[in-house]
Amino acid sequence: MAIREIRKDGDEILRKRSREVEKIDDRILELLDDMIETMHFANGVGLSAVQVGILKRVVVIDLYDGNKPLKLINPRIIKQKGKQEVEEGCLSFPNQFGKVVRPMEVTVKALDENGKEITIKGKELLAQALAHEIDHLDGNLFVDIVEPGTLQYIEPEKE
Ligand code: NI
Repeated sequence: MAIREIRKDGDEILRKRSREVEKIDDRILELLDDMIETMHFANGVGLSAVQVGILKRVVVIDLYDGNKPLKLINPRIIKQKGKQEVEEGCLSFPNQFGKVVRPMEVTVKALDENGKEITIKGKELLAQALAHEIDHLDGNLFVDIVEPGTLQYIEPEKE
């Protein structure tokens, strides 16, 4: 396992479309583990492969709620319901936060690391995280949908 470099605001790769994973091989499994380690190191709740410079449709999510981190390959939203207005940030936009509208509930289909199709139903924070990370796979960023005037830069606390 290794911590990978997170691509930041202004890096053109963040605008690119990620490709479907056709074969779940050792490189994909290693990528998933590295993404989880990188997300934990950065204290994030989600990370997409494009954010570590890999244009593949791979996402990890951890809400730190006692459940195992989610490892999702080729995830897609098949259903969504309702709306929530939430405060959001992104590991590629350090210290920036703003209000966005996300679905209140989403149903996502994806492959797990064994290549088995899984269905995940997420509400509230999980719905937000799934929508945010799946957006990354098409080069869509939260700053595109942030409500005008709500984007703030919050200085990190000094150690
Ligand atoms: Ni993000």
